Amino acid sequence: MSETTAPTGATAVDTGRRASGLPIRLEGVTKRYPGQGKPAVDAVTLELPAGQTTAFVGPSGCGKTTLLKMINRLIEPTSGKIFLGDEDVTGQDPDKLRRRIGYVIQAGGLFPHMTVGANVALVPKMLGWDKKKVAGRVEELLDLVGLDPAVYRDRYPRELSGGQQQRVGVARGLAADPPVLLMDEPFGAVDPITRQRLQDEMLRIQDELGKTIVCVTHDFDEAVKLGDKIVVFDVGARVVQHGTPEEILSNPAEQYVADFVGAGATLKQLTLARVEDVELRRVTTAVVGTESAAAVAAARAVGDDYVVVLDSRGRPVSWPTLAELVRTTTVPGTVDTRLPVVGLRSTLNDALDTMLAASQAGVVVMGGRDDLAGVLTIESVMAAIQQARAAVAG
Ligand SMILES: Nc1ncnc2c1ncn2[C@@H]1O[C@H](COP(=O)(O)OP(=O)(O)OP(=O)(O)O)[C@@H](O)[C@H]1O
Ligand SMILES: [Mg+2]
Repeated sequence: MSETTAPTGATAVDTGRRASGLPIRLEGVTKRYPGQGKPAVDAVTLELPAGQTTAFVGPSGCGKTTLLKMINRLIEPTSGKIFLGDEDVTGQDPDKLRRRIGYVIQAGGLFPHMTVGANVALVPKMLGWDKKKVAGRVEELLDLVGLDPAVYRDRYPRELSGGQQQRVGVARGLAADPPVLLMDEPFGAVDPITRQRLQDEMLRIQDELGKTIVCVTHDFDEAVKLGDKIVVFDVGARVVQHGTPEEILSNPAEQYVADFVGAGATLKQLTLARVEDVELRRVTTAVVGTESAAAVAAARAVGDDYVVVLDSRGRPVSWPTLAELVRTTTVPGTVDTRLPVVGLRSTLNDALDTMLAASQAGVVVMGGRDDLAGVLTIESVMAAIQQARAAVAG
């Protein structure tokens, strides 16, 4: 929250992330649907920086989807220019363009008659990649979105949960490694806990890949969580405010934005705090199949009364107490499906929700996919929230 407020400006935010994305520039982009009095999108000019996530929010029918679909020319603009990097793409072959822009929609938008693998392979195949390269890419992407390829590759979309379908949709959008990813209410159709997990995964994936992402959402909290920048639109896709979540929460440009953000804006600022901002507890770990006695001794030596069990790839599977562990010879590989896990970029609110949902007084924190960062306890979350509250009040 150190940046100065720029109500409509586009100050660069240093996310410290490597950027593989390209900037997107819209210049006076307009869409008039036939037979409609007012344009659905009226002369929008916007710059979306490379490697950042920009969240589009605004009331239903204000033109968000129309604007998004003009970027990959699923909808032809009536007038105006759209640049990807330095290239004006308004005159380009739309099919070619769409291969360079990933597109993710609600419920994944998967083809029901195609397997998960075939859905993900769609664009690479269109691009003429050879079979081996496509197969490797499918495996890599399913892994990236947290689905075991051996289990899910040959299933059909109807054999997946809503959240899993959405993951496949994200994998498909990323398949050809496009510099730009457009998402239209990607997590709107899943339950709150699944949505939070998918958001966390999206943040982690973005940390790894640094794409230029545009994400339309109805949910202002989601915009705050996912967006490096937020654009608030009104009817005709009028840009009311474009700034960082902090800028918009602390200084809404118009009464309209203040209403949209809601009365809870001050409290929402608390949810800006991330797990990575809080001190984590280091923990004793033990790999599945190693000697239990050694793990117990290591934990006792540093005063831990539990250990986090990791599989051979470093992913946490359970966190037994020492009392449980001493009853075994080797460290068991049983997966605790209720093990609470969040990412470093999760918000403190999410961490708290996850603890409450699992009835646990802490959560395991992952840095990357296979990289344990530590444990966050409920005490440190409460302390951090109290601190933030005091800062906001003062
Ligand atoms: N094919 C179409 N023909 C005519 N009018 C359309 C067409 N598609 C959208 N519109 C109109 O254009 C306006 C913008 O629609 P758009 O779908 O872009 O809104 P949105 O912001 O995405 O809304 P929501 O949040 O409900 O998804 C709306 O008034 C809509 O009725
Ligand atoms: Mg829409």
